[in-house]
Amino acid sequence: MPQETPPPLLALREALVTLDPSAPPILEDFHLSLHSEERVGLVGPVGSGKTTLLLTLIGLLPLRHGSLFHQGCPVRTKADLAALRRGVGLVFQNPDDQLFSPTVLDDVAFGPLNLGRSSAEARAESLATLAQLNLSHLAQRQPHSLSGGQKRLVSLATVLVMRPQVLLLDEPTNDLDVRSRDMVLHALTASPRTMLIASHDMDLLHALTTRRITLG
Ligand SMILES: Nc1ncnc2c1ncn2[C@@H]1O[C@H](COP(=O)(O)OP(=O)(O)OP(=O)(O)O)[C@@H](O)[C@H]1O
Ligand SMILES: [Mg+2]
Repeated sequence: MPQETPPPLLALREALVTLDPSAPPILEDFHLSLHSEERVGLVGPVGSGKTTLLLTLIGLLPLRHGSLFHQGCPVRTKADLAALRRGVGLVFQNPDDQLFSPTVLDDVAFGPLNLGRSSAEARAESLATLAQLNLSHLAQRQPHSLSGGQKRLVSLATVLVMRPQVLLLDEPTNDLDVRSRDMVLHALTASPRTMLIASHDMDLLHALTTRRITLG
């Protein structure tokens, strides 16, 4: 018997996304399939819809037409959306959208606690993730007091700690110096997750991804 190909982990079919009714749609009749262990680059000029697409893929923006599929099933109910958000992690383009707790450690532990880990487990996993990104020294800092690049790295930690099946990364190397960028590259290279990476950093995409989706 021939083996059935598994469905994509994440897919869009005939997607129509409009944010401003007086402007043309940002995505129109848009199709996408992201298969397990694929690492895909998302490129396109400023304003071409990369962030919009990532927000749509995690169910934060509504589809006017078409469907979002997670593991082959349409995302329709609140329960579907909750399962999608457990399986897919988004690192926002603006770290201030990601960080809201009194300390960095609290922010990183928030996800594991939400997944039902004990506070000791959540703390241990969070400290390990911060150490992996060379951020241990920031654990007790207030997130709003960090530099732009530090915030970006902490944002990445808040998502990596949850070990989602799919990582959606929106400009993960913006504001980073060479050393921090290399650390991000190293962490992502070592991660077995399926990834969709929006970036203008072509060297990063060249090093990490095997194909590109181009918008605009
Ligand atoms: N909340 C909103 N309301 C109306 N239009 C919006 C909204 N958010 C974004 N847009 C518009 O949608 C289009 C796509 O924006 P988006 O942020 O997805 O682009 P992008 O490719 O991520 O750009 P960049 O490279 O600058 O991050 C732009 O024209 C933008 O002005
Ligand atoms: Mg963007």
